[in-house]
Amino acid sequence: MAPLNLPRHIAITMDGNGRWAAARAVARAAGHKAGLKPVRMCVEECTRLKIEALTLFAFSSENWGRPADEVGSLMNLFLEALDREVAELHEKGVRLRFIGERRSLSVRLQARIAAAEERTGGNRGLALQVAVSYGGRWDIVQAAQSLARECSSGSMRPEEISEPRFAARLSLAGLPDPDLHIRTGGEHRISNFLLWQLAYAELYFTERLWPDFAVADLNEALSFFASRERRFGQRPAAAGAAR
Ligand code: FPP
Repeated sequence: MAPLNLPRHIAITMDGNGRWAAARAVARAAGHKAGLKPVRMCVEECTRLKIEALTLFAFSSENWGRPADEVGSLMNLFLEALDREVAELHEKGVRLRFIGERRSLSVRLQARIAAAEERTGGNRGLALQVAVSYGGRWDIVQAAQSLARECSSGSMRPEEISEPRFAARLSLAGLPDPDLHIRTGGEHRISNFLLWQLAYAELYFTERLWPDFAVADLNEALSFFASRERRFGQRPAAAGAAR
């Protein structure tokens, strides 16, 4: 059963892999690996429901501070996932992109990402963004640097910087802002995810740990979204016209 009023863009903070692993007395890496199953489920469901975009927070700027073996196992997981999943994503018409500070990734991972983006770049189905080495503040700073370079070269005046021009330099440029943000694992925080782009998103938090996140949980989040009245700072009757 699909709710009538679907989001155009879902962003997900996939939290709780470590606790899922600890509860089973297995390595944290096994928890991250188990997190691939709900990723596949969300891609399938979003494709089936014809949702335009899905953005997943897989590795934050701050996650570099985790122990080297955990960082290494996550980087290997991204490599393996790219090797194993890209053909199927391509078949499903998914356009895959990575957002984040790419130059901090290994050359091998950067090359696999570039190849996957090239291969799926012409697809018109679900736009799937995986945020790796991503931080919302980093995103805003790199957009500001890009605009500052244009201003100092003389091709733009500072007064010409507007919200749309700023948004066009951010990592999700060209996509509608996420209108639903889901965070698993029980924390009620944005944790430096899409700081600019989540300005008007509906925020849905669940205790469910990410590896356990199932279709029924996604449907619950979609029902929550469908029940919200979205006003964008205006009065009810005017809100629809504002979009
Ligand atoms: C947070 O859980 C989760 C991560 C840091 C990694 C998320 C990555 C995946 C689910 C793999 C997805 C892969 C692709 C290719 C999209 P945590 O370790 O902070 O959990 P805890 O709060 O219970 O310790």
